[in-house]
Amino acid sequence: MLDGKKSLFSGMQATGTLHLGNYLGALKNWVTLEDEYQCFYSVVDMHSMTIRQNPAELRRKARALLTLYIAAGLNPEKNCIYYQSHVPAHAELSWVLSCFTYMGELNRMTQYKDKAAKHADNINAGLFTYPVLMAADILLFQSDVVPVGSDQKQHLEIARDIAERFNGIYGDVFTIPEPYIGKAGARIMSLQDPTKKMSKSDENPNASIYLMDDPDTIIRKFKRAITDSDNEIRYSEDKPGISNLIDIYTAVTGKTIEETEKEFASAGYGDFKIAVGEAVANMLKPIQDRYQELTQDKAYIDKVIKENAEKAGYYANKTLRKVHKKIGFPERIR
Ligand code: TRP
Repeated sequence: MLDGKKSLFSGMQATGTLHLGNYLGALKNWVTLEDEYQCFYSVVDMHSMTIRQNPAELRRKARALLTLYIAAGLNPEKNCIYYQSHVPAHAELSWVLSCFTYMGELNRMTQYKDKAAKHADNINAGLFTYPVLMAADILLFQSDVVPVGSDQKQHLEIARDIAERFNGIYGDVFTIPEPYIGKAGARIMSLQDPTKKMSKSDENPNASIYLMDDPDTIIRKFKRAITDSDNEIRYSEDKPGISNLIDIYTAVTGKTIEETEKEFASAGYGDFKIAVGEAVANMLKPIQDRYQELTQDKAYIDKVIKENAEKAGYYANKTLRKVHKKIGFPERIR
């Protein structure tokens, strides 16, 4: 709880480009949470350091992601949107928490094992302690809820374990975070393999609709979407391709599955794919326009970056001071 409101934290890495799955599955719902929760959305550039990055590229992508958050509708007056690296408390709490985390726990993390296998030439200590930094992110803001995808569940679990362990020794310092279970966002699958989730790291650009794709590209990608061959627009487990397109169409238009099946009862896949493509392009147009506008307004974005880093720092430092006091660090002389 912060200031009488439940608190919510989530982070996204600026590596990769946001796609329709990120929007319909997460961002679109985040926009509806700002009144109920004290929301923190961090661009977690410190986490990105665990893999080698091109500095200019990292800086550019981080700013693009932060701008896109706002373009997608997150009001930066109500939601704290900031760079993790601008709030030193993340690193400071991370150190303390690393002394309450066991090697054996970190060794079990499946994402660590995957990434270590993928980047065998750079298995750095940061990659190993990544979940501790993530626990610090969450616990700094006394987060009640954390919206995370299935790939981050294990990391949220360890954050809870660390918090409980710490509280067990020092009393109630941290709120124990829960996974956010709200109105479920749509689960959008790859357009090229509808049994797989749409993914930022997919190498095939036709598998994903990126939020900045122009209308022609969007429609072309939908036309090429993999479907079965019976040409019937019906929602069914054995028709994952068409069901995915129906999911996208209903998420975008607000229509139900039944309404959609009825609307396209006498249409073929070709027409339906174009209709889905047009609906998506129309939905993205205002976000894209707003994004272009925002990138022209450097002073405004700079102001958001500065003010929100200060706001995040204010709450984070409150928790950090409490932690330092509990563990026995000497009081500062002012
Ligand atoms: N590790 C998350 C990811 O790559 C990003 C992240 C960092 C995060 N800190 C977080 C997500 C805290 C939720 C809460 O997707």
